[in-house]
Amino acid sequence: MKTEILEVNEHSESELRRAAELLQQGELVAFPTETVYGLGANAYSEEAVAKIFQAKGRPSNNPLIVHISSIEKARSLTTGWNERASRLAEAFWPGPLTMILPKHPAIPDIVTAGGMTVGLRMPQHPVALKLLKISGLPLAAPSANLSNQLSPTQVEHVSRGLAGKIPLILDGGACQKGIESTVVDLSSATWRVLRPGSITNAMIKEVLQEDGQPFQEKNQEQTSHQSTIMISPGQLPQHYAPRTPLFALEEEHAKHLLHELDGSQKVIWLTHQPIESISDLKKGQALSPKIHHLLPADPAAYARRLYALFHELDQKSLDRIYITLPPSDSEWLAIRDRLLRASKKL
Ligand code: TXA
Ligand code: MG
Repeated sequence: MKTEILEVNEHSESELRRAAELLQQGELVAFPTETVYGLGANAYSEEAVAKIFQAKGRPSNNPLIVHISSIEKARSLTTGWNERASRLAEAFWPGPLTMILPKHPAIPDIVTAGGMTVGLRMPQHPVALKLLKISGLPLAAPSANLSNQLSPTQVEHVSRGLAGKIPLILDGGACQKGIESTVVDLSSATWRVLRPGSITNAMIKEVLQEDGQPFQEKNQEQTSHQSTIMISPGQLPQHYAPRTPLFALEEEHAKHLLHELDGSQKVIWLTHQPIESISDLKKGQALSPKIHHLLPADPAAYARRLYALFHELDQKSLDRIYITLPPSDSEWLAIRDRLLRASKKL
């Protein structure tokens, strides 16, 4: 199949109409959102949604998020819209928050991997919103990458994985947030964050004015070994990883390892602060700039850059990527989560 790539903004009427027609015909279209690029299909059509699983090689037990452009539409796709959902939608939609709610029968089982709940999100990207409006459809859309690969934050990342497999990719430039949406479960007695993102635990609690279950980082041992308890597929370890073996280390461990690097391997070291400021690096042992890369010290800017950097590094046939973990403050939680999941054990 030939894959067309069209540059778009929210005023690209004819391009967006073309994309909407393909979606209405049951085809797949990749489109930009503010978090990462999504691979969209008509969420009402079992046949169309099946193509997503096929194109990505995604296991059928991993449910998809359904994207909508109005609260009214969201309400029509769940049998359990509630006060918490209203408040969170009011505060954070359109935006990087996915709410898990009881599924309406209008949503085919394939979307929710046979589960009783559905993930709903109103994205903030003007192209995504316009596409949802013009097509008039709810769009089931996972990140537009092959299963088990990095989420795409630029059109080249999408085409690297999906060119030849889908008819159309909409190019809306680089994604603003660069990290997947926060997923909050509102289908049980208390709210619970299943996947951290740029909408933090504290922001949710502030809006709901009640205690729930904020996302908590497990220790690395638990994170990297599958527990016996069934967990939501997207919470599995070894997710969100580049192809190059990545080792994420707390700063104090990083310092020790730094001294042991002997130049026999092609490695790169990623940090969020200048390496000179790592206090007890002995004189003369500073890393060569060739193997050190400085990421932004601000979590939002760091997130925007992270996956694009991984995509670039994956082109360089390095032996290893080392990354110093940012502090465990709440605003870094989502980034630490992705890095810990991506990390191999030393
Ligand atoms: O930012 C995002 O969320 C992006 C853009 C495209 O919207 N989408 C995205 O989709 O990251 P995906 O499929 O790569 O990740 C969706 C996550 C998975 O971890 C999945 O298991 C979880 O959401 N999920 C979806 N529906 C769920 C449900 N009903 N219950 C529990 N988890 C669910
Ligand atoms: Mg994904």
